[in-house]
Amino acid sequence: MKNFFRYCAIGILMVSSCKVDPSIDPELLPHTHSHDLSIPEGLPDMIIPTNNPLTEEGIALGRKLFYDPILSKDGTISCASCHRQSFAFSDTSIQFSLGIDGLEGTRNAMPLFNLGYQKKFFWDGGAASLEDQVIAPIQNPVEMHETLSGVLSKLQSHPEYPALFQKAFASSQITTTMLMKAIAQFERTMISGNSKFDQYLRGQATLSQQEQLGMNLYMQEDKGDCFHCHTLGSTFSDFEFRNNGLDAVPVDPGRYLVTLNESDRGKFKTPSLRNIEVTAPYMHDGRFSTLQEVLNHYNSGFIVNELTDPNLAILSKNRMTQQEMDAIIAFLKTLTDYEFLTNPRFSKP
Ligand code: HEC
Ligand code: HEC
Repeated sequence: MKNFFRYCAIGILMVSSCKVDPSIDPELLPHTHSHDLSIPEGLPDMIIPTNNPLTEEGIALGRKLFYDPILSKDGTISCASCHRQSFAFSDTSIQFSLGIDGLEGTRNAMPLFNLGYQKKFFWDGGAASLEDQVIAPIQNPVEMHETLSGVLSKLQSHPEYPALFQKAFASSQITTTMLMKAIAQFERTMISGNSKFDQYLRGQATLSQQEQLGMNLYMQEDKGDCFHCHTLGSTFSDFEFRNNGLDAVPVDPGRYLVTLNESDRGKFKTPSLRNIEVTAPYMHDGRFSTLQEVLNHYNSGFIVNELTDPNLAILSKNRMTQQEMDAIIAFLKTLTDYEFLTNPRFSKP
C-alpha cells in the first residue's frame, strides 16, 4: 500500500484517480485526510514525493498561503499577484511582473500548471524541486522581499495559521519546511488536461479543418516541426533546456547560470504550449506579444549559430506560408483549458 503514496495507480488511457489509504504513515500525519488526485485521461501518473504526501489539510493551507500577501515584506504582494488563474497562473500581459516597491524583474512570469510532472523549475531550472522553489520569490528583493524568519514570525502570531499548520503537519510550531510543503502540495493539484484538443483525443470534440491542418503542420518536419521540443499531447513539452535562436549573443545566459557550462548559454526550459493563448507575452523575457510574432520567429527570425538547438538549426527559413502559420495558431488555441482557468478549486479561498 505504501507505494500508492509514491506512484498513484493511474491507467494512461482511462480516467482514474489516485486513492491513498489515510491509515498510511500514521506517525507522520496523524489526523490528515489523503487527497484524491484526479488525473485526466491523456496525462501521465504523477509521482508524489514520499516525504510530502497530498492531504486535504496541506492543500487547503497551501492554497491560502498562495493567495496571502502576508508572505511579502509590506503585505502587498502574494504569489497570485504575479500568477493569476485567468492567465493560467502567469501574469497579465505585462512583460515583467512588478514586485513590492514596484520593482521589475528581468523574466516573464511563468504559468503554473502540471508542475508535478516537472523536475526543474524556473526558466533556467535553478530550483530542483517544487518545495525548494517556494522560498525564492519570498526572498527575492524585486518580488516579495521578505526574510524567512520574518514570514515565519508573522505566520506564528497570526490568529489562524498556527492551527492550520497543526492540522496539516501535526505541529503548530511553523517551520520553513512546512511552508514549502504546503504550497508545493497545492501546486501539484493544479492540473490542466481538459482543453478542446484533449476532448478531441477522447472523441468528445471535433477539430475544424483549419485546426486539423495546424496540428499536421505542427508535426510536419519541413513545416512547423514544433513537436521535437514541444511534444504533441500529454504535457506538450519534454521540459529539456534548449536554445531556440532568440539572440546571437544571449543577453540572459539562462541555463548557463546554473551549470556554468558554456554550451548552456541562452538555453531555457522548453515550456508547455498548453493554455498558450492566455499566457502572452512569450519567451523568458516576454519579447513577443502575440503568437503571430512567435511564428514569425520560428519561420524566419531565428538565429543559427553554434548555440542554436540542432532541431531548429536544420530548418529552412520562410518554410511556412501565412495561411500555414494561421493554421498552427488556430491549433494552439485548441490547447486552452477553460475548465482549469475557472476551476473554483484553484481560486482565492
Ligand atoms: C513579483 C512577481 C512574482 C511573485 C510575487 C511570485 N512569482 Fe513565481 N514566478 C515569477 C517569475 C518572473 C518567474 C520566472 C522566474 C525565473 O525563471 O527566473 C516565476 C516562476 C515560478 C515558478 C516556476 C514555474 C516553472 O515552470 O518552472 C513557480 C512554481 C512559481 N513561480 C511559484 C510561485 C509561488 C509559490 C509564489 C509565492 C510564494 C510566487 N511564485 C511568487 C514571478 C513571481
Ligand atoms: C529546438 C526546440 C524548439 C522548437 C523546434 C520549437 N520550440 Fe518553441 N520554445 C522552445 C524553447 C527552448 C522555448 C523557451 C525559449 C525562451 O524563453 O527563451 C520555446 C518557447 C516557445 C513559446 C513561448 C512560450 C512561453 O510560455 O512564453 C511558444 C509559443 C513556442 N515556443 C511555440 C513554438 C511553435 C509553435 C513551434 C513550431 C513552429 C516551436 N515552438 C518550435 C523550443 C522549441
